Amino acid sequence: MSEPSFKTIIEPFRIHSVEPMRMTTRAEREEKLAKAAYNLFALHSDDVLIDLLTDSGTGAMSTEQWAALQRGNEAYAGAPSWFRFRDAVHDLFPFTHLLPTHQGRAAEKILFTVVGGPGQVIPNNTHFDTTRANIEFTGAEAVDLVIPEGKEPASRHPFKGNMDVAALRSLLETRSADVPLVLMTITNNSGGGQPVSLANLREVRAVCEEFGKPLFLDACRFAENAWFIKTREEGYADTPVADIVREIAALADGMTMSAKKDPLGNIGGWLALNDDELAVQCRNLGILTEGFPTYGGLAGRDLEALAVGVHEAIDEDYLRYRIQSTSYLGEALEAAGVPVVVPFGGHAIFLDARALLSHLGPLDYPGQALACALYVEGGVRSCEIGQVMFGLGADGVEREAPMDLVRLAIPRRTYTQSHIDYVIEVVTRVHARRDSISGMTITSQPPQLRHFTATFAPIS
Ligand code: F0G
Repeated sequence: MSEPSFKTIIEPFRIHSVEPMRMTTRAEREEKLAKAAYNLFALHSDDVLIDLLTDSGTGAMSTEQWAALQRGNEAYAGAPSWFRFRDAVHDLFPFTHLLPTHQGRAAEKILFTVVGGPGQVIPNNTHFDTTRANIEFTGAEAVDLVIPEGKEPASRHPFKGNMDVAALRSLLETRSADVPLVLMTITNNSGGGQPVSLANLREVRAVCEEFGKPLFLDACRFAENAWFIKTREEGYADTPVADIVREIAALADGMTMSAKKDPLGNIGGWLALNDDELAVQCRNLGILTEGFPTYGGLAGRDLEALAVGVHEAIDEDYLRYRIQSTSYLGEALEAAGVPVVVPFGGHAIFLDARALLSHLGPLDYPGQALACALYVEGGVRSCEIGQVMFGLGADGVEREAPMDLVRLAIPRRTYTQSHIDYVIEVVTRVHARRDSISGMTITSQPPQLRHFTATFAPIS
């Protein structure tokens, strides 16, 4: 007899220690935002009520993770904490070489310093900001080849993170010699947290084999991606998530990882790969910038927390709650008529700012304008993923970004359903007054990764 199912989603954990939040008034928030030059990265986070800027490093650790910190052994080389971390990662991602790093971008920096450089081109479904920037910094070109549905916020394709295999093939037919490796981001963060199917990974793998190219995963949200495979891809409903993850890993030759996402760490990452020669070069670079390869930029206690977190990430009760609670936000916003990216991603709900603020053009930075309005309305901090983040080319020329999204990223195990109900109220209020929201101009910006430090002013 099957268990009766309930419609209420419950958090599969009790609260163990609490972190107070500070209430602010609208007038205070207007003042703080102006002082921050309308860049939400410049706010003091005590002035933020619900912080949905990122799901990166912002999750709550479990009692087991906190207990594991106490086991942290800080030996410079060969600490037991390293071996526990190594074994936990190997159990899911059995690549030959594992290099811990302090976070995902450090793994990217090492890998692309070795394989990148002028004339090289690196395809991905969609590169995230730091991945693209690390590739371009070496003089190489970062190319996004997601399927066309992946760029349409309203398309209901179940695997909108999939690679356009024909486009990958045609790139390899013309420029094979310039492609050192093919990357796949699971889930596809910039495209709305959309998953990649195993069928697509298999096809990409086959094309990589045909052209003799290694396939690497940017696997920050591997567990959420595996859950989508279990619930959406035919034939996987009864496969344990851990086995789906192993099947994904078996299709790849290596991975970069930000352990600040699915592995439930507040810091950490790794680079893993099978190629011995490449591993020697990466390890040596890692020693220069990260540290000895058995700690790589992390304290022993961080390695311990990650060894536990990697396995908590694939707990199916947790993943069911995680994905359902993200959809809960998406469904409520969709029902209220707010344009959102569908189907809902794993780690975030993405608002379609271009549709929501249809009176603004892309160069009025509708995503930035919307993100600022959400903060003023209710102290909710979100993140623009659109013209500001991706509009400025490596050549310094501004071009229209494919989408203007605002991401409401949900930190893991951190906010309750009533926090999310409050967010729904804030977003629907902003939606109701959307016609009164003006665009933004950029008043100063750096040449790369401008979204972190650019300054803005509202167009009056
Ligand atoms: N790859 C993807 C797909 C990411 O989402 C991120 C980080 C990274 C690589 C880099 O990892 O931060 O540990 O250096 N994304 C965060 C975000 C910052 O807000 O989505 P990192």
